[in-house]
Amino acid sequence: MFKRLQQKWKVSKGRLILVLLTFALGGSLCGYTGRKLLDFLEMDKGAIWLILYILFITILWPVVVILVSIPLGQFRFFKKYLVRVFSRISGHIPPKETLLSTINIAIFASGAGSNTKKIIEELPGLFAKKNKTLTVQVTALITDNPSAGVLDIAQEHNIPAEIIKLKNKDQDYQGEGYLSLLRKHSIDFIVLAGYLKKIPVAVIKAYPKKIVNIHPSLLPAYGGGGMYGMRVHEAVLAAGETQSGISIHEVDEIYDHGQIIFRAACPVYLTDTASSLADKIRELEHAHYAEVIAEILSSIKERRA
Ligand code: GRF
Repeated sequence: MFKRLQQKWKVSKGRLILVLLTFALGGSLCGYTGRKLLDFLEMDKGAIWLILYILFITILWPVVVILVSIPLGQFRFFKKYLVRVFSRISGHIPPKETLLSTINIAIFASGAGSNTKKIIEELPGLFAKKNKTLTVQVTALITDNPSAGVLDIAQEHNIPAEIIKLKNKDQDYQGEGYLSLLRKHSIDFIVLAGYLKKIPVAVIKAYPKKIVNIHPSLLPAYGGGGMYGMRVHEAVLAAGETQSGISIHEVDEIYDHGQIIFRAACPVYLTDTASSLADKIRELEHAHYAEVIAEILSSIKERRA
């Protein structure tokens, strides 16, 4: 039952406890205040008393619960919850933006997951600074690599992971396979963070302008099929480049090709090795990816694909 509530309200375990505590404290306080009010009116405990009691607690409940939610840090949740309850009662359905309070993110990753970790930890806070009505949450991790380090990161943060199983080495995972997973987790936006499989066209069409990738070079240079990991940095050094960097871009049907949203550069010195360059690039990725995603999300109006 708790698991179902957690999924319905899209909250973490800790937050679910605080929400339930707010309900419990709010309910008890409301009952207590209702009785005190009736005691004050010095009424006999008959049918009228009961009717007035029900009336009082119905009016008091939202006020008391909202008040209790403030010290427990759950004000935003209860504000939206009450808007939803009142909308149902009044028959007025508010715009989707108000109803769906959380933007659900899926991260696709195949490797160690250092970017994934940063995004999970920093994106909600960065987004909260830009948007006061919605929240953002990483709700699924999708990988094609059953031994990827990123799986441990997902587990540490209680994020459900899905391992894409390819029937044979050459077979591409079909769009419908991804789409059913994305529907299962009600995903609104996809972040690629070192995902080595190509994203099928069906997924790109279902999420227009809602899939981003990060690449460890200044695209369009050193991108495309086969350009990943150390190969990128080795190619940059072999060409004698004096700078490299990162690119964050929209995802289309071609590897590392979609519209570039953001780039940041770093110098390449003669003393650099592929591994020292990789360290500099990783630093840039960690400094910018979550922030850029927060910026993109803050301008999204339309919801679920
Ligand atoms: C990053 O360098 C990113 O640019 C590339 O894949 C790498 C993922 O690294 N697309 P990590 O697994 O997040 O540490």
